[in-house]
Amino acid sequence: MDKELKQIQDLIIGASIQAQKDRHGAISPAFVGRVDWPAECTVGPGLEGAIACETEIGYVNGTQGALYYRGYRIYDLCAYANYEQVAYLLLKGKLPTPKQLTNFSRKLTENLFMPKVIRSLIGFDVEKMSPMASLNLATTVMKQYFDDSIMDQKKAQKNNSDDFIGTDEDSMGMETLPFGEQKAVYEFDAKKKKRKVDEDKEKETFSACCHLISGLATCAAAISRIRQGLMPLDPDKNLSFAANYLYMMTGKRPTAVEEKIMDVSLILHADHGMNASTFASIVVASTLSDLYASIGAGISALKGPLHGGANEQVLNMLDGIESPEAVAEWYKNATRKKEKIMGFGHRVYKTYDPRAKILGPLAHFMTDYAGPDAKKTLQIAKNLENEVVSTLGKSKGIYPNVDFYSGIVYKALGIPSEMFTPTFAVARCSGWTARVVEYLATNRIFRPRAIYTGDLDREYIPIEERRKQQ
Ligand SMILES: CC(C)(COP(=O)(O)OP(=O)(O)OC[C@H]1O[C@@H](n2cnc3c(N)ncnc32)[C@H](O)[C@@H]1OP(=O)(O)O)[C@@H](O)C(=O)NCCC(=O)NCCS
Repeated sequence: MDKELKQIQDLIIGASIQAQKDRHGAISPAFVGRVDWPAECTVGPGLEGAIACETEIGYVNGTQGALYYRGYRIYDLCAYANYEQVAYLLLKGKLPTPKQLTNFSRKLTENLFMPKVIRSLIGFDVEKMSPMASLNLATTVMKQYFDDSIMDQKKAQKNNSDDFIGTDEDSMGMETLPFGEQKAVYEFDAKKKKRKVDEDKEKETFSACCHLISGLATCAAAISRIRQGLMPLDPDKNLSFAANYLYMMTGKRPTAVEEKIMDVSLILHADHGMNASTFASIVVASTLSDLYASIGAGISALKGPLHGGANEQVLNMLDGIESPEAVAEWYKNATRKKEKIMGFGHRVYKTYDPRAKILGPLAHFMTDYAGPDAKKTLQIAKNLENEVVSTLGKSKGIYPNVDFYSGIVYKALGIPSEMFTPTFAVARCSGWTARVVEYLATNRIFRPRAIYTGDLDREYIPIEERRKQQ
């Protein structure tokens, strides 16, 4: 193995050993095992604490700072696997054999080629839209072409287009009988109602997942280039997923180090429990909308600064601090104004985010190769981390989250800051699709309640009798 790649692997293994030491051994899992529906739990505003469903895809332990995909430690996946293996793992539940990996990687690479979608995108004012809005639009365009290709395949198979019912629900294999309100308790008791497996539909759904995972990468890269007045680039079929993403975006074939760091970053962002964007995807899927619309919902949720939008804001924040020496004063002012420090704090983690534990050292590693500006940004980040951890860490359990270092890493990889959140979406697409497909196997449409706090039986006053202030 290349010396630098070995150094990266050692850094990740080192972070893993440190994490174990910090938590004094193995994790003691909480919130695991089968749910006995109807479940009892304490729910806060924003559904905090609510149990939405069971899952075998990923596990986050916020108190002990642990993250697992399908039972594998995130540290091991980052040190030894690549994004293609991880995407396969999330979708299929097991790590691929060499042959399965070759086939899956080939499928992802084939799906990176989408000239028709890119041509359509160029027809919109992508330059004037936000990159996340453009990416959302791309999912709609991709859906159209996916449907067209499925339709063509089926026509070719049957050679009789009249027999084919081309609804979304049919093509995605998502239908579950609707249940009435009165049946709610009965249905809780019924627990898992897995539908009969339809292999053709499963294959089609898997193809749609691959189409979306690769498609978002190609579209994000194209959107970035269009916004800079550059022509989108075709992927290079000899490159890995991570390398292709960087190549299509920057026009430069990445070095092995850049490729590995992009790959680790994709793995780290691939899945993360029932976060807002994953939940949004599942909510849309639960209505038996389609996979593309579900991923579009995830993209919309991820856009917000409290979720995926934080990484871009972190870099803006760091750029706004004059020097490493100015950090203490800047932090004092921010605290006085009760400002939230971007890249810190997490709804689930009340300790170090394990993803930040990996990305932090990688940011250091990268900036050793970068110019003085990157080094200065990193020093500012380090000083700010020390300030926040020594104050808010102790008092409120606020530590760096994944976004604190991802922006620094992305910048060093040549990704423009406006593309940080789209890059997060590209990575998360494997988690979103895996979770949507898993949820649909036992689908129940989401329908939480809101508690009404308004008036009742107000007297209706005709408009001509209404005074200005009622
Ligand atoms: C991620 C986040 C929304 C989680 O929020 P949460 O668990 O709901 O926590 P709250 O927003 O309720 O904050 C709890 C307390 O910690 C404080 N806090 C949380 N994050 C903070 C931050 N980044 N900087 C300063 N204070 C913070 C809040 O002000 C609040 O203090 P209070 O109890 O005195 O009012 C929040 O930490 C945040 O906004 N972080 C910055 C944005 C970010 O980095 N997002 C990426 C997440 S991966």
